[in-house]
Amino acid sequence: MGKNDQPVVSMSGITKRFLDVTANRDVSFQLHSGEICALLGENGAGKTTLMNILFGYYACDAGEIFIKGEKVNLSAPKDAISRGVGMIHQHFALVASQTVLENIVVGTASRKGIFLDLASARQALVRLQERFGLQIDPDARVWTLSVGEQQKVEILKALYRDVDILIMDEPTAVLAPAETSDLFNTLRSLVQEGRSVVFISHKLNEVMDISDRIVVLRAGEVVAERKTSETSARELANLMVGRELLESIEKTERAPGDPVLNIKKLNVLNDKKLAAIADLNLTVRQNEILGMAGISGNGQTELSEVLFGMRSPSQGVIEINERSLKLGNPAASIQSQMGRIPEDRIGTGLLMDLSVEENFILENHASAAFQAYGLMKSQKIHNFSDRLIKAYNIKTAGRDAITKSLSGGNLQKVMLARALAGEPSLIVASQPTRGLDVGAMEYIHQRLVEERQRGAGILLISDDLDEIFALSDRIVVLYEGKIMGEAPGATASREQIGLWMSGVMA
Ligand SMILES: Nc1ncnc2c1ncn2[C@@H]1O[C@H](COP(=O)(O)OP(=O)(O)OP(=O)(O)O)[C@@H](O)[C@H]1O
Ligand SMILES: [Mg+2]
Repeated sequence: MGKNDQPVVSMSGITKRFLDVTANRDVSFQLHSGEICALLGENGAGKTTLMNILFGYYACDAGEIFIKGEKVNLSAPKDAISRGVGMIHQHFALVASQTVLENIVVGTASRKGIFLDLASARQALVRLQERFGLQIDPDARVWTLSVGEQQKVEILKALYRDVDILIMDEPTAVLAPAETSDLFNTLRSLVQEGRSVVFISHKLNEVMDISDRIVVLRAGEVVAERKTSETSARELANLMVGRELLESIEKTERAPGDPVLNIKKLNVLNDKKLAAIADLNLTVRQNEILGMAGISGNGQTELSEVLFGMRSPSQGVIEINERSLKLGNPAASIQSQMGRIPEDRIGTGLLMDLSVEENFILENHASAAFQAYGLMKSQKIHNFSDRLIKAYNIKTAGRDAITKSLSGGNLQKVMLARALAGEPSLIVASQPTRGLDVGAMEYIHQRLVEERQRGAGILLISDDLDEIFALSDRIVVLYEGKIMGEAPGATASREQIGLWMSGVMA
């Protein structure tokens, strides 16, 4: 099968509205057999919505869909699956207590009975695994698998259902570098057999590596289409955000100063009462960005929870500006001159039902600038809010807008504005740009570098190696709650850091 055949998917004139938001406007999209097509666009551009329509999850308000030449009316995902369309979301839908095999056959049982089905399913599964190099123990329970392995189960589940059009929504956001290259090998073997893949990602280098063709959405409309061989990451970034992006972040030499954060012999248990952080020692100094690389799930979340006072360690001391921090106490962390950027902006960062202004002052409301004799100085607060909205270019109807109406990138800006407003001497930024588009990411990177220039010390916890390399003066790798290695940001090699991230001591 060639790449110029009749498209296997043809969507035309697709429009989808949510109340007053038009998520897709008159979108036409084609997918050919044997190709990997990347779907790109800023946060809120409409990528997930368009694919949810193709997967039968949302009905469109206008437009037509043809699959393999036939006009279809998809009213549920099962209609899409029966026509060979499968979608793998970033958050998997596997049953953790069941085995790989049980997860794969669920919902496909025939009248033969579950035991016969399992026996023949096992054979079919093994054949698929051999064909696509997706090695995984069929009898392993899903909760014991890594994120990358769970993703393999999702792919096998789709292949088992004879899916030949596979949609993957930000599949690499949570993968280690080695897992990403495994996934890419799998995708390449899938399309070699004439299947087709839609690949959604904010990581432009991955898109350049894996796709054959790229479609760019902006504000719900298709604004460009390119053959991958005829474009560059730079052009794609410009097409997405409609302006030139910086080639790299400017950072001047600065000698590190006094320690702003000192972690001594920290031990932390996770929710399962297992060691999440083991005997961790770490120092962050003024004028430096310490990048903590590592695959999600190696203790990063627990470490930041301890720093933010939301989890008590079993042992250890934390000093901020050489003063011991009261542990397990959120108020103490807030008052400690620490700018806090938690990874979970919706769960722990912002209160979604409050206004933007209320979120701005949430952690500063007791400060003297805003309160006199117990009364809030409302004009001062309004001025403060308006200044932050302007400085950070936050797209919102105004300081009184309800926070949950903001898009992902703008929520992140609200949190950043709040965290940096008090000119903190220490900033703890946990996955600060996860899921953000390149424009929003560039802005946040610039602001963090400006804070370093001002003299702040920054602990940057991130599983995005590009981010770590772009910003860090020094890099440490966290693996199973321990530091696997340390290297200077300027001379560290990606291979070395990648190996440490996978637990290989080389
Ligand atoms: N269920 C929904 N209800 C209301 N609005 C929605 C819903 N789903 C999406 N939207 C809105 O539609 C627009 C497009 O959202 P969509 O999730 O498709 O964007 P995206 O391109 O996938 O963005 P991201 O890169 O952040 O994942 C956004 O403005 C979003 O707020
Ligand atoms: Mg999306």
